[in-house]
Amino acid sequence: MKEINIAVVPVAGMGTRLLPATKSQPKEMLLVGRKPVVQYVVEEMTRVGIKRLLFITGAGKTSIENYFDLNNELIQSLREAGKEDLLAEFEFERAPMQYFYTRQRQLLGLGHAVLCAHPFVGAQPFVVALGDSIIGVNAQSDIVQRMIECFWDTRADAVVAFEEVARDEVYHYGIAKPKTPGDVFEIADVIEKPNVAEAPSNLAIAARYVFAPTIFEALQRTKPGKNGEIQLTDAIRLLLQDGRKVFGMTLRNERRYDIGNFDSYFRAFVEFALADEKYGAGLREYVKALINGHSS
Ligand code: UTP
Repeated sequence: MKEINIAVVPVAGMGTRLLPATKSQPKEMLLVGRKPVVQYVVEEMTRVGIKRLLFITGAGKTSIENYFDLNNELIQSLREAGKEDLLAEFEFERAPMQYFYTRQRQLLGLGHAVLCAHPFVGAQPFVVALGDSIIGVNAQSDIVQRMIECFWDTRADAVVAFEEVARDEVYHYGIAKPKTPGDVFEIADVIEKPNVAEAPSNLAIAARYVFAPTIFEALQRTKPGKNGEIQLTDAIRLLLQDGRKVFGMTLRNERRYDIGNFDSYFRAFVEFALADEKYGAGLREYVKALINGHSS
């Protein structure tokens, strides 16, 4: 039985790097192509068999709760108007998923957000999927499925997704120090935002985790780091210091789309829009003409 039923999706962050877009709406509700970021995350979790999904929310995030409500009136009126094609877009509402919400009452970092899930998760393994990151175009990725299998096969305390990044970008991320080679590797250490010279690899933590409940005890012991936040990476370090097994798994063909800053948000939007079945081809021609026009 290589499955996990619970996912925790932190969405409480302020999104300051995306201001003013996030002044009165959550970054997790920004559109990438046709859908808000968080819908891709939920669809990914549905595909890997998650049955109960807990959002860690905060001030100004109620539009996320509204989004996952059933909207029978809207569905009824689309049906009466014969708009069957639009009805298909509401399939996600019917997924066999139960949604739960709890508030992170103080923004004390991602580690603290995950700790808020402890009373809900109890003593079970669970997935953490950051609500501001999509894995793969249109969330077509099986990385979490493979991480769940690795979790059961290795009896690890944590399995973490990684993506190769440019060497000079490592200081933005949590970076792995692998103990063994390969796409699935045991981790010796993880270092949060290292200097380029000190980084042990170019493998950056990529927004998806599978945890045994031992992570909660590690989080409780984790001291606030720079800027007073409790870092999830520091809790993973504590697991390693306790002699627990932590595995890493690298993304294969898919990329991580981080909707946390404008540079990667713009890139994600363009890529998803270009992949759109209906509008992608026309957009490609438009963008080509635009670029040629600008360079002439
Ligand atoms: P980020 O650090 O990218 O989010 O966290 P942020 O705090 O919104 O970023 P800036 O610096 O203000 O722009 C990654 C994920 O963790 C959640 C965020 O909502 C995001 O999905 N998060 C972060 C929390 O839920 N709580 C926190 O205290 C911090």
